[in-house]
Amino acid sequence: MYFPSYRMRRLRTTEQVRDLVSETDLSTDRLIYPLFVSHGKDVRSEIKSMPGCYQLSISNLVAEAMEVFGLGIPAVLLFGIPAVKDDAGSGAYDDEGIIQMAVAALKESLPELLVITDVCLCEYTSHGHCGIIKDGYVDNDITLEMLTRMAVSHAEAGADIVAPSDMMDGRVAAIRSGLDGEGFINTPIMSYAAKFASAFYGPFREAAESSPEFGDRRSYQMDHRNSNEAVREVLLDLEEGADIIMVKPALPYLDIIYRIKQETRFPLAAYSVSGEYSMLKAAAAQGWLDEKRVVLESLMAIRRAGADMIITYHAREAARWLKE
Ligand code: PBG
Repeated sequence: MYFPSYRMRRLRTTEQVRDLVSETDLSTDRLIYPLFVSHGKDVRSEIKSMPGCYQLSISNLVAEAMEVFGLGIPAVLLFGIPAVKDDAGSGAYDDEGIIQMAVAALKESLPELLVITDVCLCEYTSHGHCGIIKDGYVDNDITLEMLTRMAVSHAEAGADIVAPSDMMDGRVAAIRSGLDGEGFINTPIMSYAAKFASAFYGPFREAAESSPEFGDRRSYQMDHRNSNEAVREVLLDLEEGADIIMVKPALPYLDIIYRIKQETRFPLAAYSVSGEYSMLKAAAAQGWLDEKRVVLESLMAIRRAGADMIITYHAREAARWLKE
């Protein structure tokens, strides 16, 4: 009987051989943990659609950050819930705003933890959009001024990296020149470069209290039918000075992650968003999926596609599982 000389199963016979020929790895030092910070004392309020994730007041945030840093997670990504919201999102660039105070507290207790801040107005505007509204439309150029002030105030508070997620055109250049002008020449920009208008952000909007009051985000976030456009978005952000580019969401957009990595070779972050987390949590709670295995498989898939780092709400659990 004819048999081909290769037997693919030869290299699958034992764990040791499988490890030797494995092509991708996943380690805790590639993970970034998102955290939600709110005003108040001793707040620890669970987000219903994201079991295991909380809105935390500052002292609880610091405690949580200590725990994740202790597990080997090098970075957190912060989102703030301000006390009051207004049309101009002024809480976003207030020196005594929630993020500014949280960053200062984190850097004081945990100077080695990388603190990344989300730069976007949606949590701070009364209408929930990512910029300033003029005639029913999010005005790009006025918004740039606010975003720049916001990024500079984060850097002044001690943020290590700023991450604009608003999807205004020209924001990376504006923020870069704002940071440089204030002497923050070494503060990197992690740009949410290819951010799609996605229904997978649903649970996050509960967590950050940032659902738009009217309309949706399709006049600024990307159309999920497009891949060439994602490349253009990324190239423009790189030209404007982005240091790290991001693709978001992650799992339904592995093709975009792969393509951007192939075409740019720049440091790439993938954001596995709230809806991805909630789906796996819900199925695991029903006993329909083995949470540990599906989470690690999903994170590995995101790495295999080309992400250097992964922002995930599962970071804390993944860090524990990776140690086992
Ligand atoms: C702010 C922002 C959003 C997310 C990250 N930054 C929400 C949005 O664009 O509506 C989503 C994160 C997630 O779903 O986990 N613009």
